[in-house]
Amino acid sequence: MAGVAPDVRIFPDLAALSEAAASLWVAAADQAILVRDTFLVALSGGSTPAMLYGLLASSPLREQVDWIRLQAFWGDERCVPPEDLQSNYRQARDLLFAQVPTPPANIHRVRTELDPDQAAEDYARVLLQYASGGLGWPRFDLVLLGLGEDGHTASLFPGSDPQPAGAALAVTAEYQGRPAARVTLTPAVFNSAREVLFLVSGQSKSQAVADVLNGAFRPDDLPAQRIHPAEGALIWLLDQDAAQLL
Ligand code: 6PG
Repeated sequence: MAGVAPDVRIFPDLAALSEAAASLWVAAADQAILVRDTFLVALSGGSTPAMLYGLLASSPLREQVDWIRLQAFWGDERCVPPEDLQSNYRQARDLLFAQVPTPPANIHRVRTELDPDQAAEDYARVLLQYASGGLGWPRFDLVLLGLGEDGHTASLFPGSDPQPAGAALAVTAEYQGRPAARVTLTPAVFNSAREVLFLVSGQSKSQAVADVLNGAFRPDDLPAQRIHPAEGALIWLLDQDAAQLL
């Protein structure tokens, strides 16, 4: 890995990993709201964060977050209708935002009713409205990311453009039968975040975890290696199965 060595934390199982992620979410929200009166978060998709969303939507954690000061974005989105079960927006809406008082205007889904390129341009315009520090996008207080068995993260896949310009782009990728057309934030956006959390669970990810964290630096094959915030925390939350080859 290039850059600062990541903070790798290993847990017995997904439940313990999710509880740790929830504690980090609460702490990041508290700090951001204390200092800037807002909490800017980019959610990930896939199955791994589902338990985390459920924990945050339930007592006691639900009462520990100032939800009305949260601005929600997605690190990537599948280009499917928002009601589609494959939608990353729909997953977070149903598991989390339907249970907490975050105003709908604070929930910034990718407008997948547009064609992918237009959706990416539209999303970049929304991100610009929350930009800070001379960036063309918000400096996220917290970014959640997953890891694919092929070393991808968000929708940054092997062989993709190493340094795409701008904040968001439309991509096409085949992975585990998931929707191929996607919109993803770019590495520059992730790397400007204050805190990036990877949540990785399961034996099927163990080789990718070992390759990304301990293997040679080859980000074209392992795009997750492109993620190392310049001035932010990089924390990998792994369960024992995902960490077994470290
Ligand atoms: C997506 C995600 C993707 C995901 C990884 C891991 O839209 O699918 O953003 O990057 O995080 O593929 O997915 P799982 O958590 O389902 O293993």
